[in-house]
Amino acid sequence: MLILFIGDVVGAPGCECLRRILPAYKKMKNIDFCIVNGENSAPGNGILPQSADHLFASGADLITTGNHALRRHEIYPVLDGHLPIIRPLNFHREAPGRGWDIVEKRGMRLAVINLMGSLYMDYSENPFDAIEKALQEINKEGIRHILVDFHAEATAEKRAMGFWLDGKVSAVVGTHTHVQTADAQILPNKTAYITDAGMTGVIHSVLGVSIRNSTDRIRTGLPIRFEQCEGDCRLEGVLIETDNKTGKAVNIERVSLT
Ligand SMILES: [Fe+2]
Ligand SMILES: [Fe+2]
Repeated sequence: MLILFIGDVVGAPGCECLRRILPAYKKMKNIDFCIVNGENSAPGNGILPQSADHLFASGADLITTGNHALRRHEIYPVLDGHLPIIRPLNFHREAPGRGWDIVEKRGMRLAVINLMGSLYMDYSENPFDAIEKALQEINKEGIRHILVDFHAEATAEKRAMGFWLDGKVSAVVGTHTHVQTADAQILPNKTAYITDAGMTGVIHSVLGVSIRNSTDRIRTGLPIRFEQCEGDCRLEGVLIETDNKTGKAVNIERVSLT
């Protein structure tokens, strides 16, 4: 099975970049499933029904999110509906939506879990404990291909999660820091891993945000409004190959396309 995971798509420029590159790339590589992190796909912040529609129309089979999942109220009914959009599993139980889902195509099934880190992030249930129950339920379904989007800040927590899940899932892909890391690797028990898949958005930016706005906010601490960032964009992510029978990872490579 060939799975393409795409890092946080940021704003309208990120959405346009995805639309420009993804359909042809999917076809060329013969990709089975495409998972896209869309927590920053709406103009401003968060995810809206329109930006989610755009990601699906561009080729996403399932959308993951993160700490910005619930920023826009308009998305709540969508999260509670049938579309394959998930939010972190370890959000409070009263949060709308669900933390994992299954996508199915041509007789193949892939379970995707969205999980949020606990270090330097807003409160959530401990991710190491939270994932156990989801894995039990997925295993009961007999699904062998499982991908985890671990949306977290701390590199150490992400690597620890990779080793915690090594051999239990097909892939652990980090998101949230928007900077692609150079450690794509197969862990000893055949789980594909990367600390951060990167971002899809404006190249000369601070995590997809305008350099001037971001620098001013960091420099002054004042609540400066972010205007739309402009410039050339790049699509980043990872391409993961798994063994069709066992779900074990065979290969992972970084993707960076302009
Ligand atoms: Fe993000
Ligand atoms: Fe995030």
